[in-house]
Amino acid sequence: LSPELARAEHLIREIPGYPQPGILFRDITPLLADGQAFGATVAALIEPFAGEFDVIAGVEARGFLLASAAAIAAGTGVVPVRKAGKLPQPAAAIDYALEYGTATIEMHADLEAGTRVLLIDDVLATGGTVAAALELLERLGYPVCGTAVLFEIDGLGGRERIGHHPLHTVFGS
Ligand code: PRP
Ligand code: MG
Repeated sequence: LSPELARAEHLIREIPGYPQPGILFRDITPLLADGQAFGATVAALIEPFAGEFDVIAGVEARGFLLASAAAIAAGTGVVPVRKAGKLPQPAAAIDYALEYGTATIEMHADLEAGTRVLLIDDVLATGGTVAAALELLERLGYPVCGTAVLFEIDGLGGRERIGHHPLHTVFGS
């Protein structure tokens, strides 16, 4: 990591016992609030995929914060992958498992055929969210160059879950 990124990583705050006892939550809000750290992090998020995508898809909600900043940095547009019921014209919906219960994400299908997509979220845990978003993009026929996240949580099988799709993480776990 560059000194700038190492400093950014230090701004990720660890909160034991949130949202449940036994969980160590990694809170990225101090990193987002620091202009230099945020800028360096967003640049590092997209760097390996330079030239490989035409638009960025971001997953609600934390993924939005990164995806729109990354889109400006890359000079592309951004497409929201939203939780159910928030988009007026969803073209496809995917249900996926959460730790307790299920959730649904949806997308519009306004991109031209062949538009290359980079998927961005904040963190890969079980991989359920990213796998569902990848399936949504695949179902709508958009080629995906890969997925970029800030970090992954080891031991939850997230990387295995997303299979052959390229995955880039900015920070170690
Ligand atoms: C969190 C996080 C990732 C996802 C990772 O989203 O932002 O999107 O969980 O977990 P997974 O790999 O096990 O799917 P969540 O929907 O909990 O909250 P958010 O709306 O704040 O992004
Ligand atoms: Mg999320």
